[in-house]
Amino acid sequence: MLTDTLHRPLRDLRISVTDRCNFRCVYCMPKEVFGSDHPFLPHAEILTFEEIARLARIFAALGVKKIRLTGGEPLVRRDLPLLVSMLSQIPDVDLTMTTNGSLLARNARALKEAGLKRITVSLDSLDDAVFKAMNDVDFPVAKVLEGMEAAQKVGLEPIKVNMVVKRGLNESSILPMARFFREKGYILRFIEYMDVGSSNGWRMDDVVSAKEIVNIINAELPLEPLDPNYKGEVAERWRYKDGGGEIGVIASVTQPFCRDCNRARLSAEGKLYTCLFAAQGHDLKGMLRSGASDDEIAQFIAHLWSKRSDRYSEIRSEKTVALPKVEMSHIGG
Ligand code: GTP
Ligand code: 5AD
Ligand code: SF4
Ligand code: SF4
Repeated sequence: MLTDTLHRPLRDLRISVTDRCNFRCVYCMPKEVFGSDHPFLPHAEILTFEEIARLARIFAALGVKKIRLTGGEPLVRRDLPLLVSMLSQIPDVDLTMTTNGSLLARNARALKEAGLKRITVSLDSLDDAVFKAMNDVDFPVAKVLEGMEAAQKVGLEPIKVNMVVKRGLNESSILPMARFFREKGYILRFIEYMDVGSSNGWRMDDVVSAKEIVNIINAELPLEPLDPNYKGEVAERWRYKDGGGEIGVIASVTQPFCRDCNRARLSAEGKLYTCLFAAQGHDLKGMLRSGASDDEIAQFIAHLWSKRSDRYSEIRSEKTVALPKVEMSHIGG
């Protein structure tokens, strides 16, 4: 079995379907770097749905149990439900997506019918002014909330909400977000601001630690820790002591979790990245387009995965911040 040759399990595949996005989040695609003249990938360089589905089947044979569609913003890719319907044919795979939610209201039903199981929506504040300052959009938060409601209505559950916390921008939104999503029954996860890519001007001082976040919430809404759902889960789970549901904190900066990392990332242009902070990917599109067999591609991936030694978050320092790294919008969260 090929899966036996992997020293580390490969369970989670994130597939970026486009490097484009209709948001310009300060921590991901700051508009000073990603302006209107930014050279996004031309269509011919992007994997087709058939190519993505073929690679997904190969990854599933190597042990992948969860596929997450990401971007950029996955819903800006035309006909995305068609890709979902192709991927949902792969047995025993949890199929999900991370989206900014702005195009979700109109797509939720088609995604559900195509076989998407659940959804994670990024939202950094309920306050329109903070939302605009952080995500640089010209519509209200209400539009994202409408998307979440549409997802709930069609049963894309559980709904998770990702909130990146950046000091000086949205700490004041932590409690309002916790109160609001507790009522809704969605699982809110707070993410430490990370130094992904080379564009966001990351500084350690901008990071609000998971510990600080838990303390802020716990002071008003008492919390207790929960066990992980599975080994290698990135979010640390907490539950409201009064039974009002759960939250998560993703402490990738202050408590790295590289040891159990089982995630691979496939960029829209068909490169495989073995770490979120990698400088370079490994070209799978070239193999696909030059006639390699499934077996040859599987061998190549298995070989790469077996000799992988990534642990960026464990060695992060002021020095590593300046290293060249792929942009998050290129390979997805
Ligand atoms: P589920 O538990 O299946 O819902 O997914 P998840 O917890 O893996 O969540 P998701 O994929 O939404 O990831 C949440 C965030 O955690 C991402 O947006 C990243 O900011 C961060 N993250 C995810 N994977 C990694 C990783 O491998 N390394 C680091 N350093 N951060 C990660
Ligand atoms: N730090 C932490 N999380 C980030 N994301 C994007 N950029 C960063 C960053 N610099 C998160 C988004 C989204 C997911 C795709 O990745 O909030 O939830
Ligand atoms: Fe777009 Fe998501 Fe990046 Fe924000 S975090 S710019 S929504 S890809
Ligand atoms: Fe995995 Fe790299 Fe994230 Fe560590 S920093 S958890 S090795 S993706």
